[in-house]
Amino acid sequence: MSQSIEKAQQELNKHGYLDLEVDPTLDLFEEIEKLKKEKNAIILAHYYQEGDIQDIADYIGDSLGLSQKAASTDADIIVFAGVHFMAETAKILSPSKKVLLPDLKAGCSLAESCPPHLFRKFKEKYPEHVVVSYINCTAELKTLTDIVCTSTNAVHIIESIPKDKEIIFAPDRNLGKYLVKKTGRDMILWDGACMVHEIFSHEKIVKLQMRHPEAKLIAHPECEAHILEIADYIGSTSGLLKYTMESGFDEFIVATEAGIIHQMEKKSPDKKFYPAPPNNTCACNDCPHMKRNTMEKLYLCMKHELPEIHLSDQLIKEARASIDRMMEISAKAGL
Ligand code: 13P
Ligand code: SF4
Repeated sequence: MSQSIEKAQQELNKHGYLDLEVDPTLDLFEEIEKLKKEKNAIILAHYYQEGDIQDIADYIGDSLGLSQKAASTDADIIVFAGVHFMAETAKILSPSKKVLLPDLKAGCSLAESCPPHLFRKFKEKYPEHVVVSYINCTAELKTLTDIVCTSTNAVHIIESIPKDKEIIFAPDRNLGKYLVKKTGRDMILWDGACMVHEIFSHEKIVKLQMRHPEAKLIAHPECEAHILEIADYIGSTSGLLKYTMESGFDEFIVATEAGIIHQMEKKSPDKKFYPAPPNNTCACNDCPHMKRNTMEKLYLCMKHELPEIHLSDQLIKEARASIDRMMEISAKAGL
């Protein structure tokens, strides 16, 4: 092991990422492009990543699109600019590839709100129920799941389950309540939530609507019911983006993580986008997990091929079945 790799590994163990100095005069865009070619690597980025990372990515998408891309790419290395459960899903779908995540501590409050050992006990109370889990959960939770879903395909997934079958939905209670309303299926809900989507202030949104009466309120279904009730459109990140491009309206109040506004502004430079105001005083609705990734960490991760996602063959096999079912249902629905 070279000295620099050894040092990198030690830093990684301490911080979850490579805390090494990056020459401030380096053009990181150029360097990352070079590394992509040299290593036959692809960068997959979620819409909540910072603008520069979205701009250097080979593919930007929602959780479903990113999973489909991870399953079909012929790159040797998948660099996942997103959070841990997303990189895990990429590894499960492409186990022979090297999957890198710039910061292993980029977690997810929603995934953390459903510890597998507690869910296993909970599930024992409903042995006949079908378990549907939102993709925002750990690989271990996926092994306790019959079908995974994302916000793009959740309605299709629920509707694919025979009407005489009862359903447990985990881990997001807000998306779960939205799906109960939308599909008319009475599901048992796990009581989890996303810290970012529970932060929006109803009162401040109404005030913002008064200032911008032409603006449409668009919201992600991870938001609480009182926000979804006043929304003009509800959808996944790719659904929200598409709506801003195709609906014919020119102003939008955006109730989801603010990173998506980068793509909205790029696709519709003449339209106006206002982040939905949160309850907190710092007026920030960034996801602290998504925003752990930076250009410097991305560069170091590609240079040293660390941190890497490792999962046991057994875990991959057990978690994969529930993801494969989702992929089949999505493909049939043309999603
Ligand atoms: P989608 O991009 O699939 O809508 O998911 C949003 C999200 O919270 C990802 O963490
Ligand atoms: Fe998880 Fe919420 Fe961050 Fe998405 S926005 S990664 S659901 S904490």
